[in-house]
Amino acid sequence: MKLRIALPKGRIAERALTIFEQICGTHIAFSGRKLLCDVGDWQFLLVRNQDIPAYVQHQAADVGIVGLDVLEEQSSQLVRLLDLGFGHCRVVVASPMGSEIDNTKPALRIATKMVNLAKSYFASQAIAVEIIKLYGSIELAPSVGLCDAIVDIVETGNTLKENALKIDAVILQSSAYLVANPNSFYAKRKAILSLRAQLQNVIETAR
Ligand code: PRP
Repeated sequence: MKLRIALPKGRIAERALTIFEQICGTHIAFSGRKLLCDVGDWQFLLVRNQDIPAYVQHQAADVGIVGLDVLEEQSSQLVRLLDLGFGHCRVVVASPMGSEIDNTKPALRIATKMVNLAKSYFASQAIAVEIIKLYGSIELAPSVGLCDAIVDIVETGNTLKENALKIDAVILQSSAYLVANPNSFYAKRKAILSLRAQLQNVIETAR
């Protein structure tokens, strides 16, 4: 029985593919617009980063590679098998440079695509917020008056800097994780643990 592996498109895609290519010793080519690719006993699925938990949760994939930020945002109940040590980023609160966030406002307006992480962070700080859900280009929002601050991902910090924003708080340190569906982990334990060991081996060799 094949092991189905969901690989993310987007920010951690390239590194994930390279690692699997090293393990397989072959180029993993999704030909044309195809989103499935078979290599030996493994079948790769090319999935949007935010959709990986859904595929693994519903066992459409046995395992997946996904950022901790996505797992935490979606409160995914998956088996976290390995911190892969790449795809490092931070989920932060950021606001315009040169001024402080006015926490005394009746409700701070926060723009974000990470609604759940933002809500729970501000709740933990006892700060009332109005969340504005966006789907991208979050750093634009404060400069045109859509919000007081944002909750977003920072990797290099360039996007924040170029949009005159500063980090006020770090909510989460994230990296890419290997995750498994609990039933798959029971039924295909040997294959999954072997995959885990191979990934760990490549990562440690690269260090
Ligand atoms: C993410 C994030 C920031 C940017 C941060 O956006 O939302 O905008 O990357 O990266 P940096 O710190 O290296 O500049 P993404 O590229 O995923 O696009 P999006 O804004 O359309 O979500």
